[in-house]
Amino acid sequence: MQIRKVGVLGLGTMGAGIAQVSVQSGFDTVGREVSDELAERGRATIDRYLTRGVEKERLSPRERDDALGRLTLTTELLDLADCDLVIEAVLEDLDLKRQVFAELDRVTRPDAVLATNTSALSVSDIAEATARPERVVGMHFFNPAPVLPLVEIVRARESSDDALDLAYEWAEQAGKQPVRCNDTPGFIVNRILIPLLNDCVRVLDEAGVHPEDLDKAMTNGAGWPLGPCALIDLIGIDVHVHASEALHGRLGESRMAPPERLVRMQQAGKLGRKSGEGFYKY
Ligand SMILES: NC(=O)c1ccc[n+]([C@@H]2O[C@H](COP(=O)([O-])OP(=O)(O)OC[C@H]3O[C@@H](n4cnc5c(N)ncnc54)[C@H](O)[C@@H]3O)[C@@H](O)[C@H]2O)c1
Repeated sequence: MQIRKVGVLGLGTMGAGIAQVSVQSGFDTVGREVSDELAERGRATIDRYLTRGVEKERLSPRERDDALGRLTLTTELLDLADCDLVIEAVLEDLDLKRQVFAELDRVTRPDAVLATNTSALSVSDIAEATARPERVVGMHFFNPAPVLPLVEIVRARESSDDALDLAYEWAEQAGKQPVRCNDTPGFIVNRILIPLLNDCVRVLDEAGVHPEDLDKAMTNGAGWPLGPCALIDLIGIDVHVHASEALHGRLGESRMAPPERLVRMQQAGKLGRKSGEGFYKY
């Protein structure tokens, strides 16, 4: 089987980015949203990023138009019936994802690969909502999906080698750098990065260090391309707190729990770059 047509469920932060990756790599792509308005917003996001690429001469106007031409929008799951690969990027809620996968199971071809972009839920728990868990895998992209190359290809309890290989090969064709991993909490990167970033934040208070000095220390002393505070601002304080809670809930190590300082920042609406203020002002 060859993947020709791709479906993306949810055109929010991740879904729009994944759909962009897909259309830019030449795949006909159906983006499904819950309303026409949200679907149009998703397309506008993709258009904006592609147009920025044209301005920066990374692609031609023709390439942008061709890519946008490969994107179809819908609010109907039935319109994903002829997709070979469907990547789900709806809200991080197990009940919702299970409901979506049960519906996908009914409307898509039996050999289609169904992938979830979940960060913190068990892919196996999601797969069990279908009658074909062997066709379900995790495809964990990183934000922003069109920029960050990594995709973690997650083997769930019953994922077949064939489904995993198809997901891996598609990611490569889409210009990504896939890695194989198992359905363990946080997969590879978040399992390491979340407690590590939390340690960094705790050092601020325990050792009385300013964010600027912490970032300068880690970029110059450990060779990090970006300081930890700048990185959390980019990820979003709310996203990082949520991911910390999820990892802590599943593995229980105290380092995984969100540091008090981050919880206070979230409550104050200081969410990082997206809100204009986090550790830094933007
Ligand atoms: N944001 C990140 O940094 C990041 C990184 C990797 C993975 N993820 C994962 O990607 C997924 C999506 O996250 P996001 O940040 O793009 O969220 P988002 O809030 O930007 O988008 C969520 C999407 O879910 C849709 N949605 C909401 N209610 C729905 C419903 N009842 N039925 C169907 N769709 C519904 C929304 O319309 C929207 O398109 C989550 O599983 C998240 O854990 C997020």
